[in-house]
Amino acid sequence: MERILVTGALGQIGSELVPALRARYGNDAVVASDIRMMAKNDLFAHGPFEFVDCTKAKQIQEVVRRHEIDTIYHLAALLSAVAEEKPQVAWDINMGGLYRVLEVARETRCAVFVPSSIGAFGPSTPKQRTPQDTIQRPTTMYGVTKVAGELLCDYYHKRFGVDTRGVRFPGIISHTAPPGGGTTDYAVDIFYEAVRHGRYTCFLDAGTSLDMMYMPDAVKAAIELMEADGDRLVHRNAFNVTAMQFTPEELAAAIRVHQADFTIDYKVDPVRQGIADSWPDSLDDSAARAEWGWSPAYDLAAMTADMLQNLEKKLRPAGTPA
Ligand SMILES: NC(=O)c1ccc[n+]([C@@H]2O[C@H](COP(=O)([O-])OP(=O)(O)OC[C@H]3O[C@@H](n4cnc5c(N)ncnc54)[C@H](O)[C@@H]3O)[C@@H](O)[C@H]2O)c1
Repeated sequence: MERILVTGALGQIGSELVPALRARYGNDAVVASDIRMMAKNDLFAHGPFEFVDCTKAKQIQEVVRRHEIDTIYHLAALLSAVAEEKPQVAWDINMGGLYRVLEVARETRCAVFVPSSIGAFGPSTPKQRTPQDTIQRPTTMYGVTKVAGELLCDYYHKRFGVDTRGVRFPGIISHTAPPGGGTTDYAVDIFYEAVRHGRYTCFLDAGTSLDMMYMPDAVKAAIELMEADGDRLVHRNAFNVTAMQFTPEELAAAIRVHQADFTIDYKVDPVRQGIADSWPDSLDDSAARAEWGWSPAYDLAAMTADMLQNLEKKLRPAGTPA
């Protein structure tokens, strides 16, 4: 990887992946891109930024050629809850965008990282220690685009030799950019509300178990997979990766270790609860561990302590008592 393009770079993952890639490969070697512009964002200050709509092949092609890009991290997508509100737009962006990125990669010989998701599984998938290779019959538009995307990436590798790689991310927890409308967003919102108000009303039910990961591990997964020896990869495009599993009530208990008076109540959103109920309780990520050495650093306790510490700094002006 010498010259990198990141699509959807202003989102939750891109906002932290771009600085990590720039720290590793140099500021000028990493081109951030999105369809949004944000005047005060750090991504603009520390390296190149381009407007790229991934549904427009010419825009991707022009930027890839001008910057002599050899690796694309394709993050642009609509997430699960938003995709369920706008399924037609989700299809256009998630499938149309991926297809065009893969076509440009085929023409220009770029490697491509594409995140899939636990949303690529469905109600008929085994729920406990969900295997790497298993039944995938998702019941959401997000899931449909993620499974189709995994297959399309496999196809471009097998048919055209494009170096496609990817992981199935679980819910990602972070404190830099807000999440983009996924079913696991509660696990970020809860921290903001804990620091601001000491209480949280959760849109998922108390006992809903889901896989999660802290952002530093998500960034590590993406970079380590792209740097891995390609000859060792059997699965390539859809590695199960996970770091922890918990329910809203278990997360609330972990927050209470630091804030004894924190309270949680529940106002279940049937749409997001339905999506969460169709996803695994816990993933088996042994293929990622065996094929490219995946190993997360943060568990629930370490993530909770770090989130609270960072949000205290971010949300409480200096000198304000906790
Ligand atoms: N965040 C998570 O918890 C999570 C979990 C599993 C998988 N993923 C996957 O990781 C990827 C990135 O997720 P994220 O959380 O950063 O998403 P996000 O919603 O925070 O960011 C997506 C970005 O894509 C941009 N975008 C939308 N349409 C575009 C288009 N046509 N062209 C270019 N950019 C466009 C948006 O402006 C936004 O900045 C997605 O593929 C998502 O499905 C995320």
